[in-house]
Amino acid sequence: MKHLISTAALRRDEAILILDTAEDMAAAQEREVKKLPALRGVTVVNLFYEDSTRTRISFEAAEKRLSADVINFAAKGSSVSKGESLKDTAQTLHAIGADAVVIRHPATGAPQMLADRGWIDAPILNAGDGCHEHPTQALLDAFTLRRRLHGAASRGKGLDGAHVVIVGDILHSRVARSNVWLLTTLGARVTLVGPPTLLPAHLSGWPAETGYDLDAALAEGPDAVMLLRIQAERMHDAFFPHTREYARMWGLTEARLRALPESTSIMHPGPMNRGLEIASAAADSPRSTVLEQVANGVSVRMAALYLLCSGVKEGR
Ligand code: CP
Repeated sequence: MKHLISTAALRRDEAILILDTAEDMAAAQEREVKKLPALRGVTVVNLFYEDSTRTRISFEAAEKRLSADVINFAAKGSSVSKGESLKDTAQTLHAIGADAVVIRHPATGAPQMLADRGWIDAPILNAGDGCHEHPTQALLDAFTLRRRLHGAASRGKGLDGAHVVIVGDILHSRVARSNVWLLTTLGARVTLVGPPTLLPAHLSGWPAETGYDLDAALAEGPDAVMLLRIQAERMHDAFFPHTREYARMWGLTEARLRALPESTSIMHPGPMNRGLEIASAAADSPRSTVLEQVANGVSVRMAALYLLCSGVKEGR
């Protein structure tokens, strides 16, 4: 594995290696001195062409805890606003000695392009590209769910037999895509639920069941319900009549929360639209893993960076 671009390309053994390494990283974070020397002398550039809170901060925390030198680049305020291309930006990063690049970009395929074109010879980690993939989000979601299901005995395990219902704006969601591939690779069964307008027209290649009826999906008592953010910034049409209608039909309301088994985890990648896809009672309930997901993101990103970048010093 040289890059981390997509979960569709991850084998089960590779995914479990990342999750198990993340367990080691999480254990190291329990110690008084959290910093590890693993990436001392390695320069990691965080290249963010789109806004982010969780992913950007947790990648930076992960890099610093591995003792890497960190350069943060945000497209806003850079020469991208003067028209500089991705190629020229990548070559500039190469010239300043970047050893690894974390990239978030609004265009599908931008991380793959960086990996393929030879503008920079460095591991590329996809921090979210357009509506395509967000692999570290899916890995931290799988890590969180694996811990909820298996606790201290998680190591070496997949998610065999687990049932995950993913609800909402599947059409625009890179989180949904990455989760469908990874969860099924790890042995879980996935059901996608949302309004017909927000389910992609061509789902035949996806290893998931689909439906429009949230109550029917929840009546099965899934192990986890993952609510997706309604991505208003990617919607150029009216995909549902009104937010009230959306919340009534596809939101995790307080009444739906009460009807779920106590063991069902409530997941959301954030940022949340409270009162739309998720009621505050659900977001803040003990069953919610929202903040666990954020915390686990640091361990999972430390694992991915460690596995991809610890060899770059020897390779120089
Ligand atoms: N989940 C997620 O990608 O959040 P950010 O956009 O804040 O990074």
